Amino acid sequence: MFDPLDLYSAEENGVATTTHFAHEMKDRTVNTATHENPVSNDKDDEDDDETFLIDHLDLPSVMYATPKMVLCVLRLLRPDKQVNFDTSMSESRSITQICTEKDITPNLLDALLAWYTEIWPNPRLDSLEKICTKIPRLRSTSDKQLMLNYYTSILKKCEDNGINSYAKGNIRADLVKELSMRISENCGRTAQPSMTREFNLDNVEHVIQLYEPSLTADNLGWKTWGASLILSQKVVNLLEKNKDQKHIHPLRVLELGSGTGLVGIAWASKWRQSFGTENIEMFVTDLPDIVANLKKNVQTNDLTTFVEADILDWTNPDDFIEKHGDEKFDVILVADPIYSPNHPEWVVNMLCRFLKDNGVCHFEIPLRDKYARERELLSQLLERNNFSVISEDFTDGLDDWGAVKYVYKEIVKM
Ligand SMILES: C[S@@+](CC[C@H](N)C(=O)[O-])C[C@H]1O[C@@H](n2cnc3c(N)ncnc32)[C@H](O)[C@@H]1O
Repeated sequence: MFDPLDLYSAEENGVATTTHFAHEMKDRTVNTATHENPVSNDKDDEDDDETFLIDHLDLPSVMYATPKMVLCVLRLLRPDKQVNFDTSMSESRSITQICTEKDITPNLLDALLAWYTEIWPNPRLDSLEKICTKIPRLRSTSDKQLMLNYYTSILKKCEDNGINSYAKGNIRADLVKELSMRISENCGRTAQPSMTREFNLDNVEHVIQLYEPSLTADNLGWKTWGASLILSQKVVNLLEKNKDQKHIHPLRVLELGSGTGLVGIAWASKWRQSFGTENIEMFVTDLPDIVANLKKNVQTNDLTTFVEADILDWTNPDDFIEKHGDEKFDVILVADPIYSPNHPEWVVNMLCRFLKDNGVCHFEIPLRDKYARERELLSQLLERNNFSVISEDFTDGLDDWGAVKYVYKEIVKM
């Protein structure tokens, strides 16, 4: 049985309570208002230092700030656009881009600027530029527990919907919506709402867009895993090397356990770019619950003319064969398929059923300690079934929780 916790790094736990937080907040803001800043009381020094970090205590207290000011903060704290599991590219965007992406109107932004310049002056946040660049960074620099305390302090204030309510009508609804999103995003990848991720691969002209539903039940294929990014770039580079080849033989390609489809979509995008859509037939496959989203991603990336998303259950490949015939494949792609004791056997069975003689399989597997025995079993089963590893290398990669090591294997049928 797969244990998703095995994949997630422990998070640091703060211990502050909401009440404690409110006091801290008040003390700190009073200090900054009177320029008795606990870190520095030299305003000019701070103005000169663009990298000077703020923390959760610099956020407007719901006790004193208007709903508009708070809403503006919550929208600034929306997740930045990710490319290749990385948000650092978002750092160089203009104020206009940030506000457009995060749905922040000039009216909201002016309200927040008034807080930091007139109501509760704070030299660290006294310009639109500082507000729009420093507040979003709190998502990664601030203690998650303290941010949760901030969100719950606002939620508590919004609870009362009577005549004395903090916010009414649309603005109350907007606050509650943003708060629920920020709270769930703060609870780790498995609790996060749905999202669209972008992948920008070298040698592929267009940016690949993948929709990822919120992870529910055991539907691990609704998230894009780090192994698929590494494998995608590898297979794209292989195709790039051969792009000047004159005689292209028709090729049948199968991806097993595609999830959101990154590897298959990357292969297909690069193939179309180099050789057109004539000589290729491709299937991206997964379990029934995963395939609807996989189809959607194939469609979003405009590949439906030659890429079909369909069910191929490793425990029951007959249904796939009945529907699509028993012709084998020249290339099989698999990223991150080994996370239960049965997977090595099932995956090797798939290679036996679907890989042509002289066909090639590209595997990318994360080196999770917990599945070392399964990786060993996979190697034994491959050997026992006359597959040989013709190339292998190790790579450092990224996933939602940070750095991960991966092994790549290129396997042929002897
Ligand atoms: C860890 S995810 C990797 C997904 C994708 N390859 C990636 O790297 O983003 C493992 C994938 O294998 C699929 N899978 C697990 N058991 C399967 C089975 N019996 N038949 C087909 N697919 C299966 C899961 O649904 C999931 O999409």
